[in-house]
Amino acid sequence: MIIEKSPLPWGLWRIQQFLSNLHLTPNKQRANWINHESITKKFERRRTRGENGEVYLIGAGPGDAELLTLKAYRLIQQTDVVMFDWLVNPDIINMIPRHVERIFVGKKCGQHSMQQADICQLMVEVAQTGKNIVRLKGGDPAIFARAAEECEILAQHQIDFAIVPGITAASGASAYAGIPLTHRECAQSVRFITAHLKSASDEPNWRALVAGASACYGETLVFYMGLKRIGTIMQRLEKHGLPSNTAVAVIDQATTTQQQVCVGTLDNIAQRVSSENFQGPAVTIVGEVVNKRYQVNLSLLSNSVKPLYANA
Ligand SMILES: C[S@@+](CC[C@H](N)C(=O)[O-])C[C@H]1O[C@@H](n2cnc3c(N)ncnc32)[C@H](O)[C@@H]1O
Repeated sequence: MIIEKSPLPWGLWRIQQFLSNLHLTPNKQRANWINHESITKKFERRRTRGENGEVYLIGAGPGDAELLTLKAYRLIQQTDVVMFDWLVNPDIINMIPRHVERIFVGKKCGQHSMQQADICQLMVEVAQTGKNIVRLKGGDPAIFARAAEECEILAQHQIDFAIVPGITAASGASAYAGIPLTHRECAQSVRFITAHLKSASDEPNWRALVAGASACYGETLVFYMGLKRIGTIMQRLEKHGLPSNTAVAVIDQATTTQQQVCVGTLDNIAQRVSSENFQGPAVTIVGEVVNKRYQVNLSLLSNSVKPLYANA
C-alpha cells in the first residue's frame, strides 16, 4: 500500500498551495480556495461531531482519461481521500488536488498490493474518521470490480455511499476498435464474462455461452481477464460447438495510446496474440460483429490542446 500525504505542516502547505495557484487566473485561484476552505470546514464539523464520512465508488473508465465523467471529476475535486486501483490512468490521478490524500490499493492479477478484505477495512476506518472517500476503480465500479463487497461492509457500518458509473472496458474497447457490440443483422445481445472465477477450478457455463452465441441473431461474447487463458477459452468454445471460423478480436490496453487490436478466428487467435506481445489489460470479443468492424479514425480523439480540466 502506498499512502501519499502532504509532507508539509499546515502553514507551509498553505504557502505551497498559494505558489502552485499562481499560474491560474484570479477567478480560478479564488474558486480553488473557496472550494478547499469549505471542504475543510465540512470535514472539521463532521469530525468534531463524530460523524462518518461518505464514500463514493466511482468508475474511472477504461484508460483514456477524458472518458472520466463530469460527476466523477467533481467528486474527486471535493473529497478528502482518494483510494485508487492500478487500472486508473495516472492522468486521472494527476487531477486529484494536492491537498487530497491518495491511497494506492491496487490489485493486479498475481500481484496484490492489498487484499480485498484489507481494502474494505481501510475504507471503513478512514470513513469513521469523518473523511469523505472517493474509491476510484478502472472501468465501471460494478462490473467485475468487487463493488458488492465494498457496499456490503459500508452498509454494515452505516456509512453512506453512492455509486458513479464509468465506461466499462467492453464499451471503450469496442468503440475505439470500431467493433459494434450489437448489430441488428447478427447480434441482438451481448454478454460480459469473467475468465477469472472465484475459484481457479471453476469454469464458466460453456454450454450456455455457446448456445447464446450460436443462436440465430446470436449473442456477442466479451471476455474480461482472459488474456493469459485465451487458448483455453477458445478451445472450450470450440469443444462446446462454436464453429472454429467464428470471428474473434483481442483489444489490448483499449482507449489508451498503446491500444492494439488483433483479429482472427477461434482456431488461430491464441497463436496470433502470442506473437503480438500484448501486455494487458485486454478484452476478447467473440462473434460475427468482429466482421462488421469499421475503420475509426482515432486521431480525431487525440487531445493536442491543454485540456480544460488540467488544474490539479
Ligand atoms: C478486474 S476487471 C475490471 C473491469 C472494470 N471494472 C471495467 O468495468 O472495465 C479487469 C479487466 O478489465 C479489462 N480491462 C480493463 N481495462 C481495460 C483496457 N483499457 N483495455 C482492455 N481491457 C481492459 C481486462 O479484461 C482486465 O483484465
